[in-house]
Amino acid sequence: MASTNYSRIIIISFLCFHLFFVVSQALVPSFTYVNQGNFGDYIVEYGANYRPRGPATDPFQVCFYNTTPNAYTLALRMGTVRSENLMRWVWEANRGKPVRENATFSLGRDGNLVLAEADGQVVWQTNTANKGVVGYELLPNGNMVLLDSKGRFVWQSFDSPTDTLLVGQSLLVGGVSKLVSRASEENNNDGPYSFVMEPKRMALYYKSDNSPRPMLYWAEYEGIGKNSSLSNLTLLSDADNPYSRDDSVYLLYFVFNTTNVSPDQFSPAKSFGVITRYNSTLSYFRLGMDGNLRYFTFRLEVYNFAWDRVYTFLNRDSDNDECQLPERCGKFGLCEDSQCVACPTPNGLSGWSKDCEAKKVTSCKASEFHYYKLEGVDHYMIKYTTGDVTKQSKCESKCTSDCKCLGYFFHTDQSRCWIAYDLKTLTRVGNSTNLAYIKTPNK
Ligand SMILES: *[C@@H]1O[C@H](CO)[C@@H](O)[C@H](O)[C@H]1NC(C)=O
Ligand SMILES: *[C@@H]1O[C@H](CO)[C@@H](O)[C@H](O)[C@H]1NC(C)=O
Ligand SMILES: *[C@@H]1O[C@H](CO)[C@@H](O)[C@H](O)[C@H]1NC(C)=O
Ligand SMILES: *[C@@H]1O[C@H](CO)[C@@H](O)[C@H](O)[C@H]1NC(C)=O
Ligand SMILES: *[C@@H]1O[C@H](CO)[C@@H](O)[C@H](O)[C@H]1NC(C)=O
Ligand SMILES: *[C@@H]1O[C@H](CO)[C@@H](O)[C@H](O)[C@H]1NC(C)=O
Repeated sequence: MASTNYSRIIIISFLCFHLFFVVSQALVPSFTYVNQGNFGDYIVEYGANYRPRGPATDPFQVCFYNTTPNAYTLALRMGTVRSENLMRWVWEANRGKPVRENATFSLGRDGNLVLAEADGQVVWQTNTANKGVVGYELLPNGNMVLLDSKGRFVWQSFDSPTDTLLVGQSLLVGGVSKLVSRASEENNNDGPYSFVMEPKRMALYYKSDNSPRPMLYWAEYEGIGKNSSLSNLTLLSDADNPYSRDDSVYLLYFVFNTTNVSPDQFSPAKSFGVITRYNSTLSYFRLGMDGNLRYFTFRLEVYNFAWDRVYTFLNRDSDNDECQLPERCGKFGLCEDSQCVACPTPNGLSGWSKDCEAKKVTSCKASEFHYYKLEGVDHYMIKYTTGDVTKQSKCESKCTSDCKCLGYFFHTDQSRCWIAYDLKTLTRVGNSTNLAYIKTPNK
């Protein structure tokens, strides 16, 4: 008897050990992908070279890409080979912190997802070591997730957008609450534009080197009650839209969730809706390098030209045309109906070209510069800000005594003053009460 019991114990403990061994193996399906080898053949955004590395779920694929030699971004690509035209980068791990050849993208047995240089230096990670991660998945909506044993997300790529939101992705108070544009095609650093979820509005800002603060050039207040504030902004797409019972009609839109609303009053506000005659589940919203906002849709079932730019927020037919974009007319230019129409010089208006630029004032001494006047123009910061109520002479002396001031804008009807630390695009408004005074050197 005793010996039987003993052997049973041995068998049980052997089983337990074996089971434990199998489970610990299965706990985290670890992987390592190395950034080396040939580049992919297809055309992708930013004219990049890329290497597919990591799991794929149509139409999404994890890749390393580079636009300058030996400086790679780990990103999620959207698009399929047969859909042809440009495949797009819709999420990225390491903006501004590129990695080199032979860098690794790996999921460790501890459940941490890591991007590291070949020498092991960690560049980006999910900080999920020993947090119960048992699985990794790239979901069909483009969300890369780490799961625990109950299927909950321990980490998700949807929580770290940079300039793009996919359908189902949110900006959140207490999380990432803004998008920041990309600097340029070649340069994957933060650009000057940001799309910010604020308590009372959605806002677009332009940050110029010369300006102490980012400048507001667009805002939307729709659907936010007096006592509530924005807590969650989510991009959604559904067939069940308020405009039609037809299933083939889809609505792509944002839903704004607000705090402090009594439950009986609560209905999340829908905004920025766009209707498509096809399933728009695979879409994205982006803050572009030009500071504009756009929706793009992708159709999985289409062979050629599967992409569509379905809406541009600042456009000729909306309340704000492209003249509201700070850099629409380059360094300096007069804009009308989304077009750059003139270069304002001290001697009057001349034809606009990319070379149009205000003469640099290098001296801070008031005796070495003067102002020239433009009538019927506004600066992009004027539309959504109130300026200061003051006399024009005060406005001018404020600019004169501030070396960084490049000129000032004044509305004579309401005595409102704006100091400009950046000129770029001026809009023609045809209103003789709206004046601009541009600093220019005497010689
Ligand atoms: C990358 O690693 C391979 C070996 O795995 C090596 O042959 C190659 O030289 C490395 N490339 C660079 C740029 O270090
Ligand atoms: C907003 O809050 C004030 C003060 O608490 C209250 O009197 C008012 O009814 C509220 N308004 C709404 C729309 O909830
Ligand atoms: C944000 O709003 C969306 C849509 O209403 C909702 O599905 C999601 O759960 C919300 N997220 C949070 C963290 O409140
Ligand atoms: C709205 O946000 C609050 C706070 O984040 C959350 O508790 C609530 O579930 C959200 N409601 C919807 C419909 O998303
Ligand atoms: C819309 O497209 C998505 C993604 O391809 C798919 O999961 C979903 O089932 C489609 N919806 C309908 C109603 O066909
Ligand atoms: C000029 O501005 C004033 C005040 O903002 C406004 O009442 C008027 O309609 C404007 N005129 C034109 C031509 O835009």
